[in-house]
Amino acid sequence: MADLLTDAEFDMFRKVIYDESGITFSATNRSILDSRLKERLREKQLATVAEYYHLIMSNKDEMKTMLDSVTTNLTRFFRNQPHFDALIHYVIPHVIENKKKTGDTTIRVWSAGCSTGEEPYTIAMILADILPPPYQFQIIASDISLKSLMVGQQGFYPDSRIAGIPQNYLDRFFTKNDKGYQVNKDLMSKIRFDYHNLRNDSGARNLDIVFCRNVLIYFDEAAQKATIDRFWEAMGAHSYLFIGHSESLFGMETKFEFLKTDWACLYQKNA
Ligand SMILES: C[S@@+](CC[C@H](N)C(=O)[O-])C[C@H]1O[C@@H](n2cnc3c(N)ncnc32)[C@H](O)[C@@H]1O
Repeated sequence: MADLLTDAEFDMFRKVIYDESGITFSATNRSILDSRLKERLREKQLATVAEYYHLIMSNKDEMKTMLDSVTTNLTRFFRNQPHFDALIHYVIPHVIENKKKTGDTTIRVWSAGCSTGEEPYTIAMILADILPPPYQFQIIASDISLKSLMVGQQGFYPDSRIAGIPQNYLDRFFTKNDKGYQVNKDLMSKIRFDYHNLRNDSGARNLDIVFCRNVLIYFDEAAQKATIDRFWEAMGAHSYLFIGHSESLFGMETKFEFLKTDWACLYQKNA
């Protein structure tokens, strides 16, 4: 299929997407951008890329829709189990140990770049299962993809999407119907789905655990560093950061300490 974007247009869109979201399109994934923009032009019944560019620059909602259309939302329940083993066996015991000193009994978690919700629901199931009283938890789940957030908010997953969830969790946290599985209200009430662009400060503070997995890979170094610095601000004195298992802060100037547990590697804020 013929390219939609000229070189100049590609640069124009690449720049605006980067400025707005941190997502970097290189020449090698130009065809992805091309095909996603083609679809938007068709949906908006516009003839030229220039008209569409004008539209996103003058209409915030279309800018959001365009950004949504260029995101990659691949995810699944219990993605990379070693992270959840480290959460259960290392992070939670340490967070509780620290909380004992302060009397605070709420564990605050952020799933940043949560896509369609499988990651925050996985965390929620685990915490609902393992936290001893009086400890409780709250999860903020955020993304720039409104389409994905809506799926998370509905908490409904067809049979094809529930692979990886242990049977006892399925029985305890979901209700089955003929089309798939609905997350139970109790568990849903622990998660707040929110539109948030990692380009900006979320305003959250004192978080105990942040998951930002398989998001930084779409950013260049500068956007990665800015995001990581904002996590530092949002996190409490003794807190933990999970990034994707193929991602790393190696070579980045950051105050996070690398932590190698028996289960997985993660980062720690000790301040
Ligand atoms: C591949 S998914 C990862 C989902 C989940 N964290 C996981 O590991 O399975 C990446 C998500 O990051 C989101 N994302 C990309 N850029 C973002 C930004 N600037 N702010 C917030 N979310 C962003 C995308 O919309 C997408 O849903």
